[in-house]
Amino acid sequence: MAAQTLAEMAVEVLTTADGRAKTALGRRHAAAWFAARAAGAPLPIGQAQPPLRPARPAKPDLLPPRDVPRRRPGSEAGRIALLHAVGHIELNAVDLHWDIIARFTHHPMPPGFYDDWVKAADEEAKHFNLICDCLEAMGSHYGALPAHAGMWRAAEDTAEDLLGRLAVVPMVLEARGLDVTPGMIEVFRKAGATGAVAALETIYAEEVGHVAYGSKWFNWLCGREGRDPKDVFHDLVRRYFHGSLKPPFNAEKRAEAGLPPDFYWPLVDGPEADAEQGAE
Ligand SMILES: [Fe+2]
Ligand SMILES: [Fe+2]
Repeated sequence: MAAQTLAEMAVEVLTTADGRAKTALGRRHAAAWFAARAAGAPLPIGQAQPPLRPARPAKPDLLPPRDVPRRRPGSEAGRIALLHAVGHIELNAVDLHWDIIARFTHHPMPPGFYDDWVKAADEEAKHFNLICDCLEAMGSHYGALPAHAGMWRAAEDTAEDLLGRLAVVPMVLEARGLDVTPGMIEVFRKAGATGAVAALETIYAEEVGHVAYGSKWFNWLCGREGRDPKDVFHDLVRRYFHGSLKPPFNAEKRAEAGLPPDFYWPLVDGPEADAEQGAE
């Protein structure tokens, strides 16, 4: 039997519904990809038809964001709700990274493009499992609470546009994670929740890499087409991202990930943007 292609592996992950099963399968496929690369016999990328929406478990119930109960992190229940929301983001991220692998195979990309997204998908699987472990240690589990519907929207909106996908997913949404994670780590540190602090610190460190992969390949594609990455980024975020970007930004980690301020500040509306202009 011919070896499974990377695109087929990605679709297999996307069509697996259960969170723990999805992440276990993804981690096996990532290990197979990197073992083949190390042996000098890379797996073929191939082609496959990713689903418009990935398979997901029956629980959690998915609600419009305004109907998801507010989280007050001062209580144990609030901290469980916060971790549950992070778990939902991580599971979505697993699917987002396998989706970019399967969906854009008609764009010829170097093997390093696939290395980066397989590694990112593998790390998201680890993140989801770490958060599930924390939830279970606190007497809850992923699926116990409702979660945001609509998190897949960015993927659907950019299903036909690789540059748009890179702009909105790693360079806007995952970069936002760099802005908000330190505050979240503080919440759990104050509560003495050392397990959650360790999980969130792992997530924080590895997410810098995912944003960096996004800006690396975004710049690479713009360079191949002789276009100015900053202008292209502004156009695509305005086209595909609903709403303006929200400061405060984690300027240091964004810089580490290859995102300079002139990429994101022009996409901020309102008084904060004016204050920043005035500061110059
Ligand atoms: Fe993650
Ligand atoms: Fe990520």
